[in-house]
Amino acid sequence: MKTIAIAMQKGGVGKSTLTRSIAVAASKAGMNVLTLDMDAQQSTTQWADRRGDQLPLVRFVTEIELPKVLKQAAEAGCDLVIIDTPPARSTEAPAAVEYADLVLVPCTPDIEAYEQLPRTERLARTTGKPAAAVLTMAQPNSRSEEEIARAIFAELKLPMVPAILHRFKVHRDASRDGQTAQELEPDSKAAQEIQALWDWVCAELQIGTSALVHKKMRAKG
Ligand SMILES: Nc1ncnc2c1ncn2[C@@H]1O[C@H](COP(=O)(O)OP(=O)(O)O)[C@@H](O)[C@H]1O
Ligand SMILES: [Mg+2]
Repeated sequence: MKTIAIAMQKGGVGKSTLTRSIAVAASKAGMNVLTLDMDAQQSTTQWADRRGDQLPLVRFVTEIELPKVLKQAAEAGCDLVIIDTPPARSTEAPAAVEYADLVLVPCTPDIEAYEQLPRTERLARTTGKPAAAVLTMAQPNSRSEEEIARAIFAELKLPMVPAILHRFKVHRDASRDGQTAQELEPDSKAAQEIQALWDWVCAELQIGTSALVHKKMRAKG
């Protein structure tokens, strides 16, 4: 089982949207996915309520419950856990990072987000966890925002995920319906970007189709 923590001090940078997009991509790829919502605002839990019975499973957890829930998930044959964390200085984000195999740090192209970035980067670095920044809500067809972000991430020695999630209304429309962009508009640019991001995550964590085939064959054999 692999665990991804989605963390960034600044609110409104796309943590919950990234969490749900990856969770749905993993679920559609046939993985057993559990999404954990550690934000007291519970916006991902509410998204799941709007979603109804469709996968992936979403569960609200406190940091106290986290180790037990992760152990149960591993025992239940869960392939991937994605943890959404709250903004600001929280005790939840460090707890999530502590258990993560990969920390994804969504960051919007604005000064307020860039100012918060070093704190989140430090959190990942001090725990020794592999971390990468995901540029979110960037202006489509604008290279300059991307180049500035690339330079800022490089200065912090924070690798940048090559897939960028540009600002597209479909992310917000999808959230309203308890969906994700790739479900609401499968042929959209936003959906392609999520797919590219998911492909990168699979390569980084060495999960995905071939790993699943292997697992299923082992289960049969
Ligand atoms: N790539 C995007 N393009 C357009 N809107 C987005 C995008 N990502 C997130 N949003 C919207 O921005 C707002 C904040 O996103 P959210 O994922 O809730 O951030 P956080 O969890 O970091 O607070 C939400 O209304 C969400 O629908
Ligand atoms: Mg959120």
